[in-house]
Amino acid sequence: MIKDLLTEEPCGQHTVTRGWVRTKRTMKNLVFIEVYDGSCFAALQCTFDRTTELSIETQTTLDALSTGASVEISGKLVSSPAQGQCVELAADEARLIGAASGESYPLQKKGHSFEFLREIAHLRPRTATIGAVARIRSRLAYAVHTFFQEQGFQYVHTPIITTNDAEGTGAMFQITTLDLAKITAGTLDYSKDFFGKKAFLTVSGQLEGETYAAALSRIYTFGPTFRAENSNTSRHLAEFWMIEPEIAFAHLEDDMALAEKFIKYLFTDILDKHSDDLEFFDTHIEKGLIATLQSVADSRFTHITYTDAIRELEHHAANFEFKPFWGCDLQSEHEKFLTEQLAHGPVIVTDYPKEIKAFYMKTNSDGKTVRAMDVLVPRLGEIIGGSEREDDLEQLQLRMRELGMDIPSYWWYLDLRRFGSVPHAGFGLGFERLVQYVTGMANIRDVIPYPRAAGQAEF
Ligand code: 4AD
Ligand code: MG
Repeated sequence: MIKDLLTEEPCGQHTVTRGWVRTKRTMKNLVFIEVYDGSCFAALQCTFDRTTELSIETQTTLDALSTGASVEISGKLVSSPAQGQCVELAADEARLIGAASGESYPLQKKGHSFEFLREIAHLRPRTATIGAVARIRSRLAYAVHTFFQEQGFQYVHTPIITTNDAEGTGAMFQITTLDLAKITAGTLDYSKDFFGKKAFLTVSGQLEGETYAAALSRIYTFGPTFRAENSNTSRHLAEFWMIEPEIAFAHLEDDMALAEKFIKYLFTDILDKHSDDLEFFDTHIEKGLIATLQSVADSRFTHITYTDAIRELEHHAANFEFKPFWGCDLQSEHEKFLTEQLAHGPVIVTDYPKEIKAFYMKTNSDGKTVRAMDVLVPRLGEIIGGSEREDDLEQLQLRMRELGMDIPSYWWYLDLRRFGSVPHAGFGLGFERLVQYVTGMANIRDVIPYPRAAGQAEF
C-alpha cells in the first residue's frame, strides 16, 4: 500500500503500486501521474520519462489515462526532488486496469461543494476530504473498542428492532410487514403484524444494555440507532451510531469521570495516529483544529449544575435569541456560551429538570431535578448525554405513571429493580458528532458514508 511505500527509505528498490489516478500532467517528455489508494492522505507521484524505452502497453496507457482510472504502475522508489514529498516512483511500466470514461467522470476538478458530493456519495470517498474522514472514522471506531476492552468492559450487541421507546420522545420509525396499501381505515390489527405487536427501529440500546450491566458490571454497546426527528440541522441524522457504556455499582460522578477519560483517550489517540489527515483538516476545513483537540485532551472539564448554568445564562440574556429560563432545554447558542465564553473548554452540565429528561433518570432529593449529565464541547455543543439510572422500583414506577407510560410492557426492565438492584449509570456518545468534532466538518452528513435524513435515503 502507498502508506507503507511512503515510510520506506528510498534506495531504488523495484516496486509495484496499484491505485487510482488523481492527476496526470505532462511536461515535455515527462509524464507525472499522482496515484492514491486511500491507505493514507498522501498520493504517490509516479514519473515517466518518455525518452527512455517504454513498452507499447505503457505508452498507450500513458496516453489513455485520465483522472479516476485505476492503474498498476511499476518502477524504482527514489527520493523526490519535489517539495512536500520524500519519495516518488521513477516509473517504467504502466497498465490500465479500468478506464474512467473521460469527460463523464464527475470528479474531474478539485473543489466540488460538499452538497454536490452528497449527490454522488458512491464516488465521494475518492476525494481527499471524504477519504480522510473515512480513515479517521475507522480509527476512532477502533479506539472506542480499545478504550473499553482495556478497561474490562464487555461489548454487548443490543437489538435494532424493539417494541419500547427508550427515550420516550416518540421519534421512532415504525416497522411492519403489513401491506399498508390493503389496509382501510379502522382495520389495522397489529396482532397480525410480524411481531404480533407494534415494532420500531431502536432509538437507543440503553435499556437492554442496563440488563447486561446488571450481570457483567461493565458493558458498552456500539451500533446504529434511529430517530425520526424531522430536525434539518447540521448535527442531526435519522440514522446514527451510538456508543453506550453502562456501569454497575456506579453513580453520576463515576459516569462523568468515565466520559471525560473516554473523550481524552480518543482525541489523544487520533492526534497520535492520524496527524497527516488532521493537518489537512486543520489547513483546509477548520483552522486551529489540532490545537483545539489538544487543548480538550489536556483540559479539565468544568462541572456546573443546570440551575447554576441557567443563572449564568440569565445574566447574559441579552446575548441570546432564545431567552433562557429555568425549565428550558439548552439551545445551541446557550451551549456555545457555556463552553466558549464561560468555561473556555468542555463543560459537563448536571442535574437537569426532570421534565426535559428521560423517564429512567434518577430523581434528586429535591424532587424536581434528575441525575443527568450532558457533555458539551466548544463549537459543537452536546456530544454526550448520560445519567445515573433510577434503581429504586417504587420511584421508577412513580415516574413512569406520571408520564403515562405503559408500565406492564417494561416488566423486564423493572425486574432489574426487583432482583439485586444496584446503583448504575451510563451515557451515550453520538459517533458522528465525535467524527464531526475531530475533523471540523461543518455538516454531520459528511462524516457518515451514506447519510439518512428527512427526504434523503439515496444509495
Ligand atoms: O442524549 P441522547 O438522546 O441519550 C441517549 O440516547 C441515552 N440513551 C444515552 C445513555 O445514557 N445511554 O443521545 C446521546 C447522544 C447525544 O449526546 C448526541 O451526541 C447523539 O447521541 N445524538 C445524535 N447524533 C446524531 N443525530 C441525532 N439525531 C442524534 N441524537 C442524539
Ligand atoms: Mg441528549
